Amino acid sequence: MKKIKFPQGFFWGAATSSHQVEGDTLNQWSVWEMENASRLASEAKTKWKNWQQEKFPEMFEKENYISGKACDHYNLFESDFELAKNLGHNAHRFSIEWSRIEPQEGEFDEKEIEHYRQVILALKKRGMEPFVTLWHWTNPLWLEKKGGCECPEFAKHFATYAEYVASKLGSDVKFWITLNEPTSVIASAYTSGAWPPAKKSYFAAWRLYGVFADAHNLAFDCIHRADKNAQVGFANILHSFAAYDESSLLDRLMVKIGRYIANKRMLNLTIGRNDFLTVQYYFHNRFKFPKKLRLKNKEESDLGWEIFPEGIYHILKRLKKYNLPVYVTENGLADAGDEKRISFIQNHLFWIHRAILEGTDVRGYFYWSLLDNFEWDKGFWPRFGLIEVDFATQERRIRPSALEYAKICKTNELEIKG
Ligand code: FCB
Repeated sequence: MKKIKFPQGFFWGAATSSHQVEGDTLNQWSVWEMENASRLASEAKTKWKNWQQEKFPEMFEKENYISGKACDHYNLFESDFELAKNLGHNAHRFSIEWSRIEPQEGEFDEKEIEHYRQVILALKKRGMEPFVTLWHWTNPLWLEKKGGCECPEFAKHFATYAEYVASKLGSDVKFWITLNEPTSVIASAYTSGAWPPAKKSYFAAWRLYGVFADAHNLAFDCIHRADKNAQVGFANILHSFAAYDESSLLDRLMVKIGRYIANKRMLNLTIGRNDFLTVQYYFHNRFKFPKKLRLKNKEESDLGWEIFPEGIYHILKRLKKYNLPVYVTENGLADAGDEKRISFIQNHLFWIHRAILEGTDVRGYFYWSLLDNFEWDKGFWPRFGLIEVDFATQERRIRPSALEYAKICKTNELEIKG
């Protein structure tokens, strides 16, 4: 065995988002869930493979698709952070729920600011650096009435909220993440129609790149105005792409187009307004013209997502030219049996480390997620947590992989064969 060291001061932790863990949120997602839970439960029969249906019968229950109390993390954050601290985490990424802070347009709730101040202080007193996301896909209902992300003033409204939060909490926060994965929303809410507002409009989708870029760019300036020491970026899902046949011009062309639409366009539109870059890595795509392919017999998660750790290396290599610090703000898998999680983490870290050796300035890794939680349109059955949650009793149980990951966090080293 040999040990590989990560750079000094590397941030180790996990990530969550408000709607997925807090419980009792009121936003466009919670409304959509009530309206669509029965449909989603009945569609599970056609959507998932037999082995998934057998392993996760919860997918046929309506309640699976309603976030409800989620992990009750709104009330349990102190004890959850205590667990994370004991697992060696020195940083934590979470999101602030816009609908709590600004429940009506222009009306800000001081009590909720105070709540998040307590969340941040709970992290800091445990020696964990907060990475604060301002928008993890949920809109307050007043904004939804005006068109949600398509509201002509989305960027302005978002920046006003961002500046308010930064002016109130900036003294305790250094790292701000404006938007979470704008391109996932473009793809799943406006192209495939799987998420609210369930649109299938290439026109709307294309326009939203501009909307989200404006929102980020404006918020970047506002946060810097409110908090002089802020470091601001956005959370970007980046996909790994490969041609099925390297000698095929058409396969390679598809890779280029895919890479532009999914990975590059948002970055191009926000050039000059990122103090750091982020990587959220889940998907590897192989193109065999005219299709996107998955090869059979590849290792996969409970969701059937292919596990391809090397992909993160290629993504990180491509970010080197931007000359900015990079944080891996999400990377994880659904694995209820906890059979694949630790090798998943170790293998991804191996490739991240290689990218660091080759010059990409990676400064942190946040596993998705600290807790099992509400996985959007799929509901509660996909289990991403380092910590298992019993949603009926709110009991937490540390998974063995969390203890292995803790060794890496505590030593800043990864043991590999070799
Ligand atoms: C990411 C999301 C996160 C979670 C993981 C599995 O795309 O940002 O909220 O759902 O996928």
